[in-house]
Amino acid sequence: MSAYLILKHLHMTTAYLTVVLFALRLLLDAVGRPGWRTTPLRWIPHANDTILLTAAIGLLFVTPWVPLVHGWLTAKIFLLIGYIIAGIFALKPSLGIPTRVTAAVVALGLVTGIFHLAIYKPVFW
Ligand code: HEM
Repeated sequence: MSAYLILKHLHMTTAYLTVVLFALRLLLDAVGRPGWRTTPLRWIPHANDTILLTAAIGLLFVTPWVPLVHGWLTAKIFLLIGYIIAGIFALKPSLGIPTRVTAAVVALGLVTGIFHLAIYKPVFW
């Protein structure tokens, strides 16, 4: 298999996993099981996201896609920053429920946007 296919499969698998792991942690908090913070679920999402971003950087070397040149990729990076920030707020136990629920909805909306941009690669300019 080519480096491109390996990186793309790795990137896509970890992309789907990041959403599953985020939703799982939200769900556990929602049903009153915050104890996941003392289990491997505390670090597994970080390990997954590190692989996701490493594969993303690898893809930049083996594809013609360039941030700031291709709008969908630039937009994806901005949405990613928003997703990370909203995700941190959504999982912060010290914050109130309305703030956390709003942050969770924003984070899930942003990651949906990331998938849309990745799959359809719209041309902005
Ligand atoms: C949470 C973050 C991210 C998610 C969920 C995500 C998701 C995806 C998915 C699902 C695809 C495959 C789309 C398809 O062809 O069906 C993809 C492609 C791609 N991603 Fe990401 N991505 C993320 C972050 C990034 C970042 C930060 C970069 C680069 C800085 C990046 C670079 C790329 C590139 C270059 C492709 C195109 C590969 C190709 O089609 O040839 N991604 N991404």
